[in-house]
This record gives sequence, C-alpha cells and structure tokens, in this order.
Amino acid sequence: MKITKAVIPAAGLGTRVLPATKSMPKEMFPIVDKPAIQYIVEEAVNSGITDILIITNRGKGVMEDHFDRSPELEKALDKPEKYEMLETVKDISTLANITFIRQIETKGLGHAILRAKSFVGNEPFAVMYGDDVIVGEDPAIGQLIRAYGEFGKGVVGVKLVPEEEIHKYGSLKVEKLHDNIFKCTDMIEKPDTPEKVLSCYSILGRCVLPPEIFDILEKTPAGKNGEIQLTDAMKQIAITEGMTAVEYTGTRYDMGNKLGVLQASIEVGIRHPEISEGLKKYLKEFVKNI
Ligand code: UTP
Repeated sequence: MKITKAVIPAAGLGTRVLPATKSMPKEMFPIVDKPAIQYIVEEAVNSGITDILIITNRGKGVMEDHFDRSPELEKALDKPEKYEMLETVKDISTLANITFIRQIETKGLGHAILRAKSFVGNEPFAVMYGDDVIVGEDPAIGQLIRAYGEFGKGVVGVKLVPEEEIHKYGSLKVEKLHDNIFKCTDMIEKPDTPEKVLSCYSILGRCVLPPEIFDILEKTPAGKNGEIQLTDAMKQIAITEGMTAVEYTGTRYDMGNKLGVLQASIEVGIRHPEISEGLKKYLKEFVKNI
C-alpha cells in the first residue's frame, strides 16, 4: 500500500532548550534560513507524502502561519529584484496538504500520535518527530517507506547511540536482515540499568506505523516520566508481528538539544551556497583561538 500520510508531532514543551522555547516552538528554530519543520515537510514531500498532520499545542500557531499564504509579505516582494524570494515564500504554502490539530495536554509522544487517529484512518502512515531534522541525499522517511514496501511490517528509523547515553533513548533488540536493514523483535524506552539494554540501536526520529497502533495506544498506560510512550505501544507490535529497523543514511540533528541546534546551523551553513565561503573563513579563523 502506498504511504501518502505523515504525522509530525510538534507539541512537546522543549524543556531542554528553554528559555528559547518559552514562547517559540523548537520546531521553528531556523537552520540557516529555514525553520526545522520546513526541512521535515520537504523530506516528507520528497518521499511521496501528500498529506501531513502537524500536532501542535498552545503558543505554536506560528507554525500554521509559516505554511499559510502571507498577502502583505507577498505584496512587498512583488517587484522584479525580489521575484525569486516571492516564489520561495509562496511555494511554502503549496508543499503539501497540511492540517493541524492540538494535543491540548502534553502527555507524551504516544498521546500526541493518538490525536492523528481520524486523519490516518485505516492505512499505514509515516511519523516524523518535529524536532529531528535529517539531512541527506536520500530522504530518510523515503528509506523507511521502501522498507515497508519490502517487508510489509511497521518500520523504525534507527542509529547507533553511544553506550553511555543509551539510558536516555529507546533500546532495540535487532537482528540483521541485509545491508542496513534489521528485524526488530523487542524494544524498551530509556533502559535504567545495563541489564535492560537490548542494543545500542535506538529509534531516532522516524517510523512507519500500521493503523493498529491506535488501538494499542488507547490501552497503553503512562510509562516513563508519566507520559504515554510511543515505544511502549510499538513494543507490542515488535513482539507480536515483528518490525523492521532501517539504519537510515543522512545526518540527524536534534533540534531539542542545544548542541544539536548549533551543529545543524554550522553543518548546513557550510554547504549553503550563499554563506559557505564566508562561514568556512570565519570558522577557520575562530578555531585558531579556542
Ligand atoms: P521530545 O521528548 O524530544 O520533546 O519528543 P519534548 O517533550 O519537547 O522534549 P523536552 O521537554 O526537551 O525533554 C519528540 C517529539 O515529540 C513531540 C515533540 O514536540 C517532539 O517533536 N511531543 C512530545 C509531542 O508532540 N507531544 C508530547 O506530549 C511530547
């Protein structure tokens, strides 16, 4: 079945990047000249997604404005020397069919995904975490969608995380199938003792889920941090039907983490045609003194 719908949960409080997130969603943090969420929407569109639901929260209306038309701005840009930017600005509102729904209470990622039940209906769908920007030649969610086509099971996008940090992430039981593709038969969210660690492969930012996830989420009790954890619901699918794990290519930037925000700006900036030379020159000078 073709996957055309994506859900972007973007209703988290972003407490790791306070005070910036007090009134500004981390999903709107810019990476050079585009907000994080636009990179994610473009990745979806480049993977064949046509319909996107963004889960928001109070104070996140700025994301809706970003994907809407902006008549005053467009009028101001309507002159020959600004035509290119005018097109860029207009194109944002036609990237995909984007709708928004509020989570109302911040009760965890699983609780946020549950808000997408009627949007998704009875088909498999993509989940793209709103604070995980993945930059690469081959769009990450497209790689997962291909794996769904190959195995017909739910897919999780994974990367290896350092052993000393696995307690902050989910940990997966995996078995290699071929290349960068694994079978996943179990998972645990934030293992708090070394015995609970299943491997250093962790779900980072992307999944393709079957619609059965909603029935499971409805019965999933609050887990770690008192939140309804998506990992707890996916675990049910992993141990019963099995899931596929794809160690996707591309660099992931965690926009919910101070260092991740800076890394994204520097690495994307280095490749940005307009500022590449200036940034390289600046960095070379700057590192001499640190
Ligand atoms: P995170 O756990 O990284 O986001 O969730 P957070 O809760 O904002 O993080 P803290 O406060 O810094 O620890 C991953 C994704 O899920 C969304 C977040 O917006 C983020 O994109 N999310 C999280 C929700 O939509 N709702 C929630 O209740 C929790």
